[in-house]
Amino acid sequence: MRKNIIAGNWKMNKTASQASEFLSSVASRMDSKDEVVIFPPYLSVAAAVAALKGTKVKVGVQNMHFEDAGAFTGEVSADMVLESGCEYVLIGHSERRKYFAETDETVNLKVKKALAKGLIPMVCVGEDLEEREKDLTFDVIARQLRRGLEDVAPASVVIAYEPVWAIGTGKTATDEQAQEVCAFIRKSLSEMGFDAAEISILYGGSVKGSNITSLMSMPDIDGALVGGAALTEDFINIINY
Ligand code: PGA
Repeated sequence: MRKNIIAGNWKMNKTASQASEFLSSVASRMDSKDEVVIFPPYLSVAAAVAALKGTKVKVGVQNMHFEDAGAFTGEVSADMVLESGCEYVLIGHSERRKYFAETDETVNLKVKKALAKGLIPMVCVGEDLEEREKDLTFDVIARQLRRGLEDVAPASVVIAYEPVWAIGTGKTATDEQAQEVCAFIRKSLSEMGFDAAEISILYGGSVKGSNITSLMSMPDIDGALVGGAALTEDFINIINY
């Protein structure tokens, strides 16, 4: 079901005690009419779930493996994620693709596993600067969607459009650039057989309290995936755009 979602991707930041401290101080101000989701590092998930108990804020993980169990040192399974109290899983973040060899094919396996287990996959897509400058943005996004969601039954996925050149750079896409690609994503999903009008499509890349309002006024942007600013009190301004 399409709804507005404000998500915070903490990346490799905040230990369990730092997560408790931060969330305890902001939890009472995180209530929103929109869905709010926090993605802490694995080892801080339990602390986040405990600190957010009694609020509507959801918790997710930043990655998971597509197999159920086995000899995959360093990995976690969907069942582990579910049992820890998470409802969401981030899949295919550009940093996973760049530093940890995530491919459209592993994204696809993970999306299928997440859906089969009842987790909501938040699938990240986005072009890098070179691809944008070569006018390949739509080709890259179309490929990531087609391969990443291949043979995925029209179901509850969330898409996050994150242009790589806007992540952690302070260089936000303009509202129009973000809207243009989010509209393209919706059209592509529809052509792939998804009920695209019902899918939440988020924008991510240097979102802050000062630019969220105009991004959210765009017709095809249903929320934000926030990195750096999700680690600070500015996240409260973003939630309350
Ligand atoms: P940023 O990160 O907000 O720090 O640009 C966004 C993300 O990587 O999800």
